[in-house]
Amino acid sequence: MAKAITFFELNTGAKMPSVGLGTWQADPGVVAHAVTTAIKVGYRHIDCAQAYYNQVEIGSALKKLFDEGVVKREDLWITSKLWCADHAPEDLPIALDKTLRELQLEYLDLYLIHWPVRMKKGSVGLKPENLTETDIGSTWRAMEAAYDAGKVRAIGVSNFSRKKMNDVLQIARVPPAVNQVECHPVWQQPQLHQFCASHGVHVSGYSPLGSPGTASTYVKSGDVLKHPVINMVAEKLGKTPAQVALRWGLQAGHSVLPKSTSETRIKENLDVFDWFIPEDLMAKFSEIKQERLVKGTGFFHETLGFYKTVEDLWDGEL
Ligand code: A2P
Repeated sequence: MAKAITFFELNTGAKMPSVGLGTWQADPGVVAHAVTTAIKVGYRHIDCAQAYYNQVEIGSALKKLFDEGVVKREDLWITSKLWCADHAPEDLPIALDKTLRELQLEYLDLYLIHWPVRMKKGSVGLKPENLTETDIGSTWRAMEAAYDAGKVRAIGVSNFSRKKMNDVLQIARVPPAVNQVECHPVWQQPQLHQFCASHGVHVSGYSPLGSPGTASTYVKSGDVLKHPVINMVAEKLGKTPAQVALRWGLQAGHSVLPKSTSETRIKENLDVFDWFIPEDLMAKFSEIKQERLVKGTGFFHETLGFYKTVEDLWDGEL
């Protein structure tokens, strides 16, 4: 019997829908259609970020859906993320208000520190000269203040190693509810999962399909969907490789955030609830050679960075 796994309960008690629409690299011009299509076919979770530069258009799409009575605000889960240039405690509330304005929302369901890296106020892009001293403790205090103010109903982090998560947990009054990280069959992160689970932190997986065909220079476009194990499982179950990668994620215990702007693939990616990967086939995933695709180039630098090397950024989790 398939267990649907339609949501994960966070340490706040909130139920986060397990499949969210990713919006990174969903350009203005197409993102509104993607969000509208997704919500009309049943998605209830949209993953956004200031740094994706498309929140204004997402906000207009959401307003239209609310006005037309397609969905109610309280039935949606909207996540957004604090960009690195707004880590200073005095800048965070301004950045959050801007995100709320762009999305035309009164509150977010989840607000994440996008990267454990501070950049200079007002800086744009991933240039080494933008990097500056990082103090996650003071940023976390400002996240807690936003939570206290009711503007965000849960707070968390993204791209945090076990060590960096532990540093936050040590000082947190409100512990992080989520760590959103790269997660797919080719980068499964079992130790991070274990660590997060033991501290009540939910893992949410970005790039759950391995970001095939990404235009980004700092993500190695993976061949996750071409992997023989995934294709063997897909063939056996009569599903697509993307569906198998997503269902694997749900059964491994994390939410998944597939990005698509194609109506067919948006639908395909939500069709993961009324079937399951049996245990013997789940076991095959442990044979897959592991490789981190998102190295975080641009977030460390040998002379100008707070983190000097890729090892510093990920605390050796490579
Ligand atoms: P498109 O937007 O044209 O559908 P990830 O979520 O891992 O970052 O992957 C996103 C990439 O995967 C996008 O290029 C997206 O393209 C593509 N994609 C999304 N869904 C599917 C699918 N079901 N099958 C194949 N490729 C997909």
